Amino acid sequence: LDRGTAAPDLAGRHVVISAGGTREPLDPVRYLGNRSSGKQGYALARTAVARGARVTLVEANTALPDPAGADVLRAGTAVQLREAVLKAAADADVVVMAAAVADFRPAAYATGKIKKKDGQEPGPVALVRNPDILAEVAAERARPGQLVVGFAAETDDVLANGRAKLRRKGCDLLVVNEVGERKTFGSEENEAVVLGSDGSETAVPYGPKEALADVVWDLVAARLG
Ligand code: CTP
Ligand code: CA
Repeated sequence: LDRGTAAPDLAGRHVVISAGGTREPLDPVRYLGNRSSGKQGYALARTAVARGARVTLVEANTALPDPAGADVLRAGTAVQLREAVLKAAADADVVVMAAAVADFRPAAYATGKIKKKDGQEPGPVALVRNPDILAEVAAERARPGQLVVGFAAETDDVLANGRAKLRRKGCDLLVVNEVGERKTFGSEENEAVVLGSDGSETAVPYGPKEALADVVWDLVAARLG
C-alpha cells in the first residue's frame, strides 16, 4: 500500500493502540520487564494515521519518536496501562493490544533499594497476577460493534496456541507470530498469521512491520463495514 495515496478507510474512526512493554518495579532502581521494542505498535499507529483514523497510542517504555498526528499517552506498569487503555477505549471503534503486558508483578514494592546481606543468599521474589487488559476490553466492549485485536508471540504449536488464545481472550482478531532468537523482538520486520474469530486465517509473509500493520487495518476496515 502506498501510504502517500492510501485510501482514508479509517476516517472518522477512533483507534486505540498499546505499544511497548510494561515494567514492574521491585524497588526504585529495578524492575521485571520484557524485550518488546514497541516498533509493531508504532507501525500500527503511523499506518492508522495515514488511513485517516484518530489515533490514541498508549506507550509503555519505548524509545521511539512520537508518531505524527497521534495522541500519545504514557504508561509504565500493567496497572497504569490498563487504566489508560480502558479510559481511551470508552469511545474507540477499535482497540489493538500490541503491548507486551507483564503477566505478573512483584507482590511487594520496596521503597528503598534492596541491599545484599553479608553471607546470605537472596530469597525468592513473590509475584502476583496482573489484570488481563485484552480480555477485559473484549468482555466490556465499551461501544457497540467495537473491534478488539490482540497479539501473541508463541514459540511452539503457534497456530494451535493462537486459536485457543483467540477464544480465551474473546477478541475479534489475533496476530500470532513465532518468536525465536532473532525473530520479532527489536527487529524492523515481522511474519505472522492473523486469526479471526470468524475462522479466517491470513498469512502475512516476512516483511516490514508497516506491511503487517496494513494487513491488520485491511481486516479491521472490512469488519467495521
Ligand atoms: N495481554 C493483556 N494483559 C495481560 C497479558 C496479555 O492485555 N495481562 C494481551 C497482550 O497485549 C496481547 C495478548 O494479551 O495482545 C496476548 O498476550 P500473551 O502474553 O500472548 O497472552 P497470555 O494470555 O498472557 O498467555 P501466555 O501465558 O502465553 O503469556
Ligand atoms: Ca503473557
